[in-house]
Amino acid sequence: MKSAGVTSLATAVTSAGAADVEAQTGPRVVGPGDVPVTLMVNGKRLELKIEPRVTLLDALRNRADLTGNKRVCDRGTCGACTMIVDGRTVYSCSTLAIEVQGKQIRTVDGLSTGNTLHPVQQAFCDTDGLMCGFCTPGFVVATVALLEKIPRPTPEQARRGLDGNICRCGTFNRIMEACMSAAAKGVRRG
Ligand code: FES
Ligand code: FES
Repeated sequence: MKSAGVTSLATAVTSAGAADVEAQTGPRVVGPGDVPVTLMVNGKRLELKIEPRVTLLDALRNRADLTGNKRVCDRGTCGACTMIVDGRTVYSCSTLAIEVQGKQIRTVDGLSTGNTLHPVQQAFCDTDGLMCGFCTPGFVVATVALLEKIPRPTPEQARRGLDGNICRCGTFNRIMEACMSAAAKGVRRG
């Protein structure tokens, strides 16, 4: 899993762009109470007041009602929470919301257009690529990211592109089928 900004949640959060202040007084510590955090999610600006320790996943699920991506392991091992940040997949359960201010965040909630599913979502339906469905949003987002980067992957490239995601129900064959079927139909860059 390529990961942007995966950070220990225990790390002190410092404000960006305060180099001059830092030079004189050291890093400015924000929190631990709520602070304003502005995110660009699925093309919309989202103003939140959250503690700096809040993850991107929790910020969107609990404060913005964007519940498409699931919290499963909550420790960066399963991929159910996969989102796209500035074109790269991240585990949103292991990314602080405050760290991704100013970046373009895409979640599974933003993939469809009205009632029309994204081709990758449609391919998962067509190939029956899910059982319990908890891993599915993460797989869909990871597949979208893969196909935007490599529109016609080989099976090996597809396997590698999705190897940060786990399906405990064992639908890997159908997930691969969905990926290759969406690739054959063509996926436009989002
Ligand atoms: S919930 Fe984030 S990697 Fe499992
Ligand atoms: S469909 Fe259940 S974990 Fe993948």
